Amino acid sequence: MRRPPGSGYTLTPFLTTPRKIVVNNQDSQFFNIFSLVLGILIVIAILLFALARVVGTNTQTAHALADPKYLAEVESNLTTGRVAVAGRDNSALAIAPVAGVVVAELAIPTDGPGVYEQVCGACHLNGIGGAPNSSDRAAWAPRIAQGKEILYKHAIEGYDGKQGVMPAKGGRVDLSDELVKAAVDYMVTKAQ
Ligand code: HEC
Repeated sequence: MRRPPGSGYTLTPFLTTPRKIVVNNQDSQFFNIFSLVLGILIVIAILLFALARVVGTNTQTAHALADPKYLAEVESNLTTGRVAVAGRDNSALAIAPVAGVVVAELAIPTDGPGVYEQVCGACHLNGIGGAPNSSDRAAWAPRIAQGKEILYKHAIEGYDGKQGVMPAKGGRVDLSDELVKAAVDYMVTKAQ
């Protein structure tokens, strides 16, 4: 047998001896019985669980539902109007407005400057999304030169320009055309 030069060891025994996995017959028998016992235990556990449920429903749950304290609570819920009951008068459940709180409604602007402050300024005040800044005269001069009718049309119907998208009525389609025109007039005077 030739040895690798320089070492006193050889790999030959590892490479030539066939390795066999020897499973003892007794071992496999043990595993079979073990799995069987495990399976039976699981079945027993499930049966016990089911039995406990059945026994519990007939005794414990019935007992809890008949408890005078529980019944009194249900009764008070029903009579003091804390729970809505179908077919009964539930008006006592209506949520009363809290005293001193004023609910602010989204105000509808009534004039050009108002519309500008509330709606158009969101973009045109700071040039958001490519909107021409309302104090930038150079940016507005060519637009104003198009004539008011075009500006009105673009403001009311919206348009897709070179610098960005002007949404119809600035996104507030609930505004009347007249109000939007007034806002355009106001913007134009600011930019002149
Ligand atoms: C969401 C942002 C946004 C809001 C809100 C907005 N605009 Fe604009 N608007 C733009 C943009 C962007 C442009 C430029 C588009 C372009 O020319 O590329 C523009 C352009 C315009 C122009 C110029 C049109 C033209 O032909 O050059 C007018 C007029 C105008 N807006 C009016 C209004 C008015 C009036 C309101 C409020 C009712 C309003 N905008 C609200 C984004 C907005």
